Amino acid sequence: MKIRIQRAVPSRADLVLAFVVDGERPDAGKGLAAAVAAAKATGDLKLSFRNVSLFHPRGSVPRLGFIGLGKGKELSTERLRRAAAVAQATAEDCGIDRFVLVVGQQALGKTDAAAAGSALAEGLLLGAYRYEPPKKDKSKPRKGQDCTVVFLGSDTAAFARGFALGEIAARATVFARDLENQPSNVCTPAALASAAKSLAGGGIRVKVLERRDMQRLGMGSLLGVAQGSAKPPKLLVLEYGKGKDTVCVVGKGLTFDTGGISIKPAAKMDEMRYDMCGAGAVLGLFHALRHGALAGAARNTRIVGVVAAAENMPGPAAQNPGDVVRAMDGHTIEVLNTDAEGRLVLADAIAYARKFHQPKQLVDLATLTGAVVVALGHEVAGIMGNDQKLIDALIAAGKQADEPLWQLPLWDVHKEQMKSKFADLQNINGPQHGNGSIAGGAFLGYFAGDTPWAHLDIAGTAYGGNSKDYYKAGAAGTAVRTLLRWLLGRR
Ligand code: BES
Ligand code: MN
Ligand code: ZN
Repeated sequence: MKIRIQRAVPSRADLVLAFVVDGERPDAGKGLAAAVAAAKATGDLKLSFRNVSLFHPRGSVPRLGFIGLGKGKELSTERLRRAAAVAQATAEDCGIDRFVLVVGQQALGKTDAAAAGSALAEGLLLGAYRYEPPKKDKSKPRKGQDCTVVFLGSDTAAFARGFALGEIAARATVFARDLENQPSNVCTPAALASAAKSLAGGGIRVKVLERRDMQRLGMGSLLGVAQGSAKPPKLLVLEYGKGKDTVCVVGKGLTFDTGGISIKPAAKMDEMRYDMCGAGAVLGLFHALRHGALAGAARNTRIVGVVAAAENMPGPAAQNPGDVVRAMDGHTIEVLNTDAEGRLVLADAIAYARKFHQPKQLVDLATLTGAVVVALGHEVAGIMGNDQKLIDALIAAGKQADEPLWQLPLWDVHKEQMKSKFADLQNINGPQHGNGSIAGGAFLGYFAGDTPWAHLDIAGTAYGGNSKDYYKAGAAGTAVRTLLRWLLGRR
């Protein structure tokens, strides 16, 4: 989809849509004032949130539509994002190629112009997103894929700046969604490596570690997970920017998780193709960086992305429950359940990030536990870690991005649960403990050590959320926007 901003409503357009706020006079620009007044006079103008009213004035604009935003005091970035997606869907339903979306100052309410611009661009592009499955017949070209946004508000520079950033964020999210939605025979660890390599250039350096590299480094924990699969694991390392400070963003990239020998039940096992959504978030972030998300902002920070890509299979060489492996940092681990594999691959990815990049801060993202879905559902991701300032900054970024995060405790008493009789650590706690999501975080905490660290458990938000205009089904491309906001907000 193509989007752009413009100052004035064009005199000719197949479809002009305008946001309307309940209690305010609708504004679609001077040229359409008479048509707006006529539409209003019919009494058919619906003002409640997400309501669409279409009118057919004669002349240069054959279709004039209004997207209700509801009451002024209810306005928010999330509403604007959703309303923009509704506008795109309206144009597509009308069978129109190019449409105009008019946004008056009133549509912003108390939202600042930059945030509103971002939300709008995101709503248009994310709402237009569809995963294109492979089919025998070629799909028809889509309608509603060209939008000119006309901003009639005051702070046009800030709006335009926000709009540009929103476009970058949304295209990065789309990149993540496409990887995430692919089945596991397409999105393999090698395919994730190719996707990472496709981002190289423009200030981004990409390195892929192969199985032999991991063997040399002593990544027994990651390798143990991968050994049941015929698909070799890959460790992807992406770097952006220069400077003395480094932040690392680490993603779980299980392209499929059968559970291994501790095999999962058949029902919904297909969903385990989404077990690489942490990797999706990291690769999405680098897509945004590649396209200039942080350009212009003078920064003294290097951003390093690390993705542990592997497949968890019960093949003949698979590890067994009770096997003991040694991670790169020396910790020995008793693998009591081969289905708690995310933490095993992340253990080595985190150890690698710390050893070779000495980050000031480290964030990992993982579809780590089913328990986080039980605790928080699909609309909120869990966050925990060892550094409250970092956690608070990420929660604030999630709030800005409308991707909420909720902190879970991670205390010494939880770390105690992860000690093993047969090794330093065990990869699950006991059934008597409960706290499944915290156990995953507690295990990772040993590998984060004294590096300021936060862990995002995105098993709930990665897919399966409520349909909401800019997200329909399948993979959400979750956390790309949050990571971007976090990096933009750092100092
Ligand atoms: N990938 C799963 C977590 C998951 C479950 C993600 C459901 C999305 C939806 C993870 O590897 C896993 O299997 N976790 C186990 C941990 C258990 C063995 C301690 C789980 O949640 O059951
Ligand atoms: Mn698992
Ligand atoms: Zn998993």
